[in-house]
Amino acid sequence: MRTWKIAVVPGDGIGKEVIAAAVDVLKACAERDGGFALSFANFDWGSERYKNTGSLMPDDGVETLKRFDAILFGAVGAPNVPDHVTLWGLRLAICQGLDQYANVRPVRLLPGVQSPLRNVVPQDIDWVIVRENSEGEYSGQGGRSHRGLGLEVATEVAIFTRAAVERIMRYAFKLARSRRRKQLTVVTKSNAQRFGLVLWDEVASAVAADYPDVAWERMLVDAMTARMVLNPSSLDTIVATNLHAGILSDLAAALAGSLGLAPTANLNPERRYPSMFEPIHGSAFDIVGKGIANPLATFWSAAMMLEHVGEAAAAGALIGAIERAVGEPDLHTADIGGRATTVEVTKATIAFIGGRNSAPEGVP
Ligand code: NAI
Ligand code: MG
Repeated sequence: MRTWKIAVVPGDGIGKEVIAAAVDVLKACAERDGGFALSFANFDWGSERYKNTGSLMPDDGVETLKRFDAILFGAVGAPNVPDHVTLWGLRLAICQGLDQYANVRPVRLLPGVQSPLRNVVPQDIDWVIVRENSEGEYSGQGGRSHRGLGLEVATEVAIFTRAAVERIMRYAFKLARSRRRKQLTVVTKSNAQRFGLVLWDEVASAVAADYPDVAWERMLVDAMTARMVLNPSSLDTIVATNLHAGILSDLAAALAGSLGLAPTANLNPERRYPSMFEPIHGSAFDIVGKGIANPLATFWSAAMMLEHVGEAAAAGALIGAIERAVGEPDLHTADIGGRATTVEVTKATIAFIGGRNSAPEGVP
């Protein structure tokens, strides 16, 4: 039987809660499918480790991850550790170390979920945001001099290379082509950022020539925020820089009902290195330990992971179970206006994967 080796990095805060739930759900997927097995290795990397040892993961952490078929990640961030330390020490270290340059973020208004927008129906929000995940504003180039003095200077250099822009653009055009509408919106700010983002525009035009069947357009990022709110059904596949897409995807998640429903895949499309799957939300200090985190974003990320390793049937079954769970108001967690707990949603999802029509005893 095929066995997929999964590295599990729950991280901090509700990351631990939603990942524990997702591992149970994945076990149920494998059991139900019968054609494959999953072996999980758990890594206790995160802020606790940082406080005890001075680093979020071991020096050879990225090397260790290369032995796995995929990585399932929770969230990183703790109230008493600076966010740039946790982000760069773990999540970005993994994404950049494993060249996971395509950050893919599907956004759908699932049936049964209320969008904060008036009069939108599920068909109106069905997007995929492709975030360039290796450079741009997250290149890590810059520095600070004359710290604390009046003449202190800080630089944060955004790097855009033709190679990286071209590979993400090709990925986005290919993804757009695979979708029903075959439509791509390239988001930049090339009126103000006239070097790096004009390069983006030029590369987009050049790559577009290889995808004549994809209808594509350019948008400035500020106008894009308004369009997402005012005319969501006009969008399909979207590609943007690391920072811009990071911001747009939190907006997108909110428009689709909740951060607790938004999944993501950090892909190395050539499969030289393992890819990483995670909810887009963070460690959510305000709800940690309460047992009310919405696990569905993580389940959806787990479905993307199954799809990526080649278990499309199991991935489809899991997506179906997520859709059923979200269709039941009694299974809504607080972020989408309900009172269900993480455990209740998890048990019901497992029951739905098993093909049972009703949730097990004790679950509303
Ligand atoms: P956050 O995503 O943790 O939380 C934002 C809001 O959404 C909070 O009110 C939270 O309760 C709610 N929320 C998020 N996920 C939810 C879920 N599954 N179910 C129900 N409600 C949910 O973002 P925030 O507060 O800006 O950051 C908290 C920490 O997480 C920081 O340390 C930050 O750096 C880190 N972070 C880490 C990320 C990652 O590891 N990929 C991503 C975003 C933030
Ligand atoms: Mg974010």
